[in-house]
Amino acid sequence: MGDFTYKNGKLYCEELRVQNIAEKVGTPFYLYSWNSLIQNYKAIDEAFGDLDHLVCFSVKACSNVAILKILAGEGAGADVVSGGELYRAQRAEIDPQKIVFSGPGKTSEEIEQAIMQDILMLNVESSEELMLVNEIAQQKGVKARIALRVNPEVEAETHPYMTTGVKGSKFGIPISQAMAEYEVAQKLPGVEPIGIHQHIGSQIVKTAPFEESVEKLTNLAKSLAALEIEIKYLNIGGGFGIPYDDSEVASPEDYGRALTPILKESGAFIVIEAGRAIAGNAGILVTSVLYNKQSDERNIMVVDAGMSDILRPTLYHAEHKIAPVLNQEDAPSVKADIVGPLCEAGDFIAIDRAVPRLKKDDLLAVFDAGAYGFSMSSNYNSRLRPPEVLVSGRKAYLIRRRDTFEDLVRNEAIPKDL
Ligand code: LLP
Repeated sequence: MGDFTYKNGKLYCEELRVQNIAEKVGTPFYLYSWNSLIQNYKAIDEAFGDLDHLVCFSVKACSNVAILKILAGEGAGADVVSGGELYRAQRAEIDPQKIVFSGPGKTSEEIEQAIMQDILMLNVESSEELMLVNEIAQQKGVKARIALRVNPEVEAETHPYMTTGVKGSKFGIPISQAMAEYEVAQKLPGVEPIGIHQHIGSQIVKTAPFEESVEKLTNLAKSLAALEIEIKYLNIGGGFGIPYDDSEVASPEDYGRALTPILKESGAFIVIEAGRAIAGNAGILVTSVLYNKQSDERNIMVVDAGMSDILRPTLYHAEHKIAPVLNQEDAPSVKADIVGPLCEAGDFIAIDRAVPRLKKDDLLAVFDAGAYGFSMSSNYNSRLRPPEVLVSGRKAYLIRRRDTFEDLVRNEAIPKDL
């Protein structure tokens, strides 16, 4: 749980009581620990310390500019997948030479934006994209540094929605076609192929799929060297899992230990695109109880956060730990469906979960919500996206205010004939 700990039954984030923050900003809200972010980043950085490497924080996991800036201060780069994320990375003053850009559907505008900012490299995901990058770079009179994102066709053994490196996936170029694509790329005047990229999936809990795919990548690099295509960078993507429950999950050290020998032999500079393993346990979502009711045999606890605030339970049936912000030792436990206020049957945070019997206004913490929490939130049901608060020691900073009603309609226009 990182820097979220109970002292005398009260939940703290670093040295501040979560309840006190809730009283100031209201619920629901996201709360992050500055120290956890840094420690998690360092754990990955150190795990690959025997290699020339760069850890690029995967911006999609937690995109707040303040958080990006903290990580940039530690030396992190950024893995971006849209013009918007590239803009955020720029706002956080991340060195463009530490930015990589993936995504199967980059637009011309995004490619141009990346080329003009002179980012480290574009991770190109198809032969058509390769041609477009070449064309745009030539128009701009530059050579774009690229990696091809290859699909190594390994089973990442995670949720199907988080599996990105199997046969038939929409991501990358099948590894069987990679040699031919590199040969094409090598001859194009507007691109310089300098790397190989993979991202096989997310919330991977064992090192084996990585060992298998990284082995394939280094073999590809060797075959390319024989064609005088020099691969200077191997980007192994992200995907390191975190323990959402008490099950065994490989740690950054495990990944470092397993992959370093394979990667070292390649002699390449290594890029790692970690998201969840940095931000996941560094954030919680705090929500309060609105109502308790019974539906047939089920206990229903309605809270003030729902799928618009945290989508993971609805989208993946993800199970986040949930516990009261004030632990009442003697409170009787019940099994309840913890549900949000949205008008969607799929709007739940947990199903049939044992929780203490809580009453209106009691606070609950949803743990391990720092990654893919706020960044996947929406205004569905015209709900106001929650604020984000960052804690360092005894200090709390509001790093994003709660949406207002005005925010909801800001970009809308009423036709003047109406
Ligand atoms: N690199 C690329 C190209 C990616 O697509 C992703 C995540 C990452 C790196 C970072 O992966 P991580 O280290 O965080 O596992 N929304 C989902 C996960 C989907 C991740 C998509 N790509 C969730 O809530 O679990």
